[in-house]
Amino acid sequence: MIPEGLAYGGDYNPEQWPEEVWAEDVRLMREAGVNMVSVNIFAWALLEPSEGTYDFSRLDKILALLHENGIAADLATPTAAPPAWFFRAHPQALPVDRDGRGLSYGSRQTFCPSSPEYREAALRIARVLGERYADHPAVVMWHIHNEYGCHNAECYCDVSAAAFRRWLRERYGDLATLNDAWGTTFWSQWYHDWDEIIPPRATGAVPNPTHRLDWRRFCSDELLSLYKAERDVLREAAPSIPATTNFMVMYNFDALDYWRWAPELDVVSNDHYLRSTDPESEIDIALSGDLVRSLAGGPWLLMEHSTGAVNWQPVNRAKTAGELRRNALAHVARGADGIAYFQWRAAKAGAEQWHSAMLPHAGTDSQIWRDVVALGADLKALAEVRGTTNPASVAVVWDWNARWALELPSQPSESVRYLDLVRSWYEPLWRSGVAVDFVHPSADLSSYRLVLAPALYLVDDSAAANLTGFAAAGGSLVVGFHSGAVDTNCHVRLGGYPGAFRDSLGVRTDELFPLLPGESLALSDGGTASLWSERVRLEGAEAVTSYTSGPLAGTPAVTRHIYGEGTAWYVATHPDPSTLAGLLDRIRTEAGVEPVRKTPEGVEAVLRRGAEADYLFLVNHGDRAAEVEVAPGATNLLTGVAAAGGTVVVPPGDVVVAREVRG
Ligand code: GAL
Repeated sequence: MIPEGLAYGGDYNPEQWPEEVWAEDVRLMREAGVNMVSVNIFAWALLEPSEGTYDFSRLDKILALLHENGIAADLATPTAAPPAWFFRAHPQALPVDRDGRGLSYGSRQTFCPSSPEYREAALRIARVLGERYADHPAVVMWHIHNEYGCHNAECYCDVSAAAFRRWLRERYGDLATLNDAWGTTFWSQWYHDWDEIIPPRATGAVPNPTHRLDWRRFCSDELLSLYKAERDVLREAAPSIPATTNFMVMYNFDALDYWRWAPELDVVSNDHYLRSTDPESEIDIALSGDLVRSLAGGPWLLMEHSTGAVNWQPVNRAKTAGELRRNALAHVARGADGIAYFQWRAAKAGAEQWHSAMLPHAGTDSQIWRDVVALGADLKALAEVRGTTNPASVAVVWDWNARWALELPSQPSESVRYLDLVRSWYEPLWRSGVAVDFVHPSADLSSYRLVLAPALYLVDDSAAANLTGFAAAGGSLVVGFHSGAVDTNCHVRLGGYPGAFRDSLGVRTDELFPLLPGESLALSDGGTASLWSERVRLEGAEAVTSYTSGPLAGTPAVTRHIYGEGTAWYVATHPDPSTLAGLLDRIRTEAGVEPVRKTPEGVEAVLRRGAEADYLFLVNHGDRAAEVEVAPGATNLLTGVAAAGGTVVVPPGDVVVAREVRG
């Protein structure tokens, strides 16, 4: 990481251009206030033109040029895109998909994660780079690989099968334990020999759920072991340079259990792209930022996002006026200490020629370039925000194991999707301006007042005890439908649903009644419910709202239970957005949770806390100017203008960062 202030830059791929262009690149970088770029991400084929022969001349020049211009380098190991010569020499390192189809080279991120030849080649180039550039003054961070798991999270070849078996032996020790965990007496799947076990390849009927779940765990761990191996090689060669790899916590990417990854990174970084079909992508940015900050346990880096359209959606929309700035500063608000883009200069050739960049095809006489330069000035003005934290008294439980299990085939309803559920609970909290962390189910919860578990289908015994213990000790716990249903092996918890949480919630469900797409039920509080219902019986809890239509009329839909010193709520259905918002508002008010600041609708308020001052980020997503109260003597850091009369006005589409001195 750069020594001070916020980082600003993007992926810089000068190898896409003749050398004459580079001088203009660095001149324009300086003009825009760029102070750190990621280089070498996809340059393997040029760096190592044939196995074991290297050509560092280009990279040497690039790093020297950056250094002369005061721009730091986040130097990548190029291992996400092995060259053609590698696959010609080692065709067995190409991946095989679930249907048994072998994939070819000619793109990127197409290799078998378990291939020993790939590992050897990747570690070799990492070591050579580490040794060559360990003391290079431009290099401030290692960018290991690129987006692990993007396109190549799973390989179903025989080499992967053997690696999977090794992983399973480690997990289970003996076959009897594995057979028991996987419930292999069902459908005659009993394994008598380790070698009988294969990846969950395409087969005629539904796969064994625990087999499939363990496969996902294995695939995440397999890539993690590659990351760790590269990191260790670099640490040995250059112990003082921190390492990162860019996560993708959003847009339906779910291949990696980032709770297991994050502690292995020196700096946590994330890539975030808007989905053209999301009319409120500001909520997606907020959720992503809160999640990645929680993974990092503090500030993090936005390693990639876009200045405008991407090229990988069915229709790739440009950003509207002011959106580039709002997006970037919203990430900073949620804890980003640096903002970077894919990529610096828009490519004229290659697979991403229609992807936006900091310097667009149109050149500097363009809106994007003007916005990029202006953002550089904003980030400079926000330098002192670096390292500050985001206090929160609400935690939302997030778990990739629960997500994988919930979305296995042959569930009660395939309409139940993890991210949709979490977002539907997150949205009302976002709208009311409540600060939220995400937590692993077994995290220390003692600093929170309110813990929400919207979708915790799978939970192990100790995590369940952690959550219910939080309520018993005086916290407010809110549990979403179908949570606690299965244990860590995906076995149903018997005796009634919601298994692990039955006692703490004071309810017992004997049968599930998921709803058809488009079907909805009336609720006694005037709202409606969709997606899910279940026959809940009260066993100590009170009904907050009940169904007034459908086969379960009269049955509780939301319940509240005094449990120990605290309260445990069960949301046994999917209430419509305003009913859910009303419910969560009531719950958080009872729990004593206040919004960061009272703001008019559409104005997002996020607080970063420093040693002496608070930084109140106000992002106006609406089309009307908004007046917001700030502390006496506050100053807008972006303009240097002091707030008059204890309020600031945030023009439509604009951002204010009020520096409020504490004490
Ligand atoms: C990311 C990737 C970048 C670029 C970008 C385009 O997933 O890391 O290299 O492809 O997407 O949006």
